[in-house]
Amino acid sequence: MKISACVFDAYGTLLDVHAAVRAHAGRIGPEADAVSALWRTKQLEYTWVRSLMGRHADFAAVTAEALDHALAVHGVAADAGLRADLLAAYRELGAFDDARATLAALRAAGLKTAILSNGTPEWLAAAARAAELAGLLDAVWSIESVGVYKPDPRVYCLATEGLGLAPAQIGFVSSNPWDAAAAAVNGFRAVRVNRARGPAEYDRVVSVPEVRALADLPAFFAAA
Ligand code: LAC
Repeated sequence: MKISACVFDAYGTLLDVHAAVRAHAGRIGPEADAVSALWRTKQLEYTWVRSLMGRHADFAAVTAEALDHALAVHGVAADAGLRADLLAAYRELGAFDDARATLAALRAAGLKTAILSNGTPEWLAAAARAAELAGLLDAVWSIESVGVYKPDPRVYCLATEGLGLAPAQIGFVSSNPWDAAAAAVNGFRAVRVNRARGPAEYDRVVSVPEVRALADLPAFFAAA
């Protein structure tokens, strides 16, 4: 392997962001999938807008704000119990099926593994524990230590500083095309996990290779 470590985005990459709504879909009704999609879209928008405005609030707060908006747009009258249950489920999202085996294979190949995420330290610890990923990670870094969201370059420095490696020695894996592109711009060996086979994005900024699943990563990095 030409890299010495592999850093993962958390939400959407290792953790399935739609698992929270799926767990309570029956209480939301026919709009459940649309609520989940808008929840995620608005959550990300709020991170970018707050960072640009210099009005940081942590990921738990923006996730709650985005949920309220998504429920309101789709006319879902969520009682306090449903709202709390959705946020509790988000705090302990399940991992994608191939997450554990992939982390184990990369570590068996001699790589360090870590998470670099917008999540709060508390949420990331809870999710890693719930998804049984904690023992497969050397480090978990939250943007809370710099107080600004991805894709600010200061965020990606957390990984290079934490590992004591140059970005070219670090693989960076994200299913969020903008996050993978930002890592590539910052010199990491970035890979997009494109499960849905969506079209290329940000390719006029920087070229980022892609894989279809986390399970493809050990072979990808061995060949890279
Ligand atoms: C994260 C978001 C981008 O985990 O999914 O940082």
